Amino acid sequence: MSRLDAIRAAEAKLLLSTYDRNPILFVGGEGVHLVDENGDRYLDLLSGIGVNALGYRHPAIEEALVRQGRTLIHTSNLYFHEGQAELALRLTERSGLARAFFANTGTEAWEGAMKFARAHAGLLRSEGKQIGTKFLALEHSFHGRTFGSVSTTHKAKYREPFAPVVSGVDFVLFDDVTDLRAKFSNEICAILVEAIQGEGGIRPLSQEFLAEARKLADSTGALLIIDEIQAGLGRTGKWFAYQYYDIQPDITTVAKPLAGGIPLGAVLCTEEVARAIHPGMHGTTFGGGPLACAVAIAVIDTIEKDQLLNNATQVGNYFMDGLRTLAKRHEAITEVRGKGLMLAAELDSADLAKKVVAEMLKRHILINCTSDTVLRFLPPYILTRAHVDTALKALDEILTEHVGTAHSAAAAGGIKHG
Ligand SMILES: Cc1ncc(COP(=O)(O)O)c(C=O)c1O
Repeated sequence: MSRLDAIRAAEAKLLLSTYDRNPILFVGGEGVHLVDENGDRYLDLLSGIGVNALGYRHPAIEEALVRQGRTLIHTSNLYFHEGQAELALRLTERSGLARAFFANTGTEAWEGAMKFARAHAGLLRSEGKQIGTKFLALEHSFHGRTFGSVSTTHKAKYREPFAPVVSGVDFVLFDDVTDLRAKFSNEICAILVEAIQGEGGIRPLSQEFLAEARKLADSTGALLIIDEIQAGLGRTGKWFAYQYYDIQPDITTVAKPLAGGIPLGAVLCTEEVARAIHPGMHGTTFGGGPLACAVAIAVIDTIEKDQLLNNATQVGNYFMDGLRTLAKRHEAITEVRGKGLMLAAELDSADLAKKVVAEMLKRHILINCTSDTVLRFLPPYILTRAHVDTALKALDEILTEHVGTAHSAAAAGGIKHG
């Protein structure tokens, strides 16, 4: 029995079956590549679902891990350590927000954001304002799996098995300003959005929608909360995706790439929101520990030093152009979306999308499919044009083989791969 088969058999017996894993056993990685048990390399265009922004075995992460691992790993939040304020400074400077709370994961950061919104509304009520406790979230949204987060996550299949979820959440049609206006009232304590939806299929909100959400929230004292857990911290070519809209949220949440694979999330908020939070109201044993903070500082400093926002923009644009060229050649690609290195090609069938992901895997290229029909690309920020060429060539071959080329004029011109 191979090592992989032995592990599969053991997991089948011992783990809850929450995942339908791909049959690969990864044992290492280097740069943008993962390495399996046979020593085969895979080009990773998913980076652990948007986590490994610096790829694998990045020296800055290794150095921070070893240094901090030898010094102090955990103290609890009952005492000071050197990392939290240093990391909070980096995050507040870049986000334009004033204060940070550290959690461990994305969903936990989002729970914090929801609780802070309720607490803030409570404070406003105590000051005589008329504001309720309800939330408006968006169609196609994904905010995580814990109870508050899953209540604001749109897909019924994530919520229904666990019903009743947290009440008081209404969903607005995606990017529909009229529906937003109709559903907003002073019953709402916060409007919850991703500037670019991730799991929902890499869907950017329009300027008009986000501006209207900001305006409506301002009209009652409700909060605009933008979830940047997937889009934030440089993936789109800016530190925060909302910066493309020039619109400031009252709260934002970050996690995935924050500490280079060590679990860490953060809620960032304004001074106005912070007024509502006092010692003992919220907390965590592990969140913002010395190890995670040290690595996060190294990640942020490396993104800055190596100009990886610029790389995400440049290589992302190149990738996007390549996908658009492919879309001209292959009718099966119905839309190409995204920003920087948060990209998607939507296909005209879920079966085809599944097939393409499987065929890419056979060619040792990792991507995934979200929202059934959307091929998603969330590569490390260190990706180069040569890696993009490899991916585009494979996609072109797979689509040609499994669907054929539809647009003969474009096909005659061929597609350039380099
Ligand atoms: C936008 C967004 N919010 C929240 C989450 C939940 O994060 P986590 O899986 O770390 O709990 C995710 C995860 O995919 C996400 O993409």
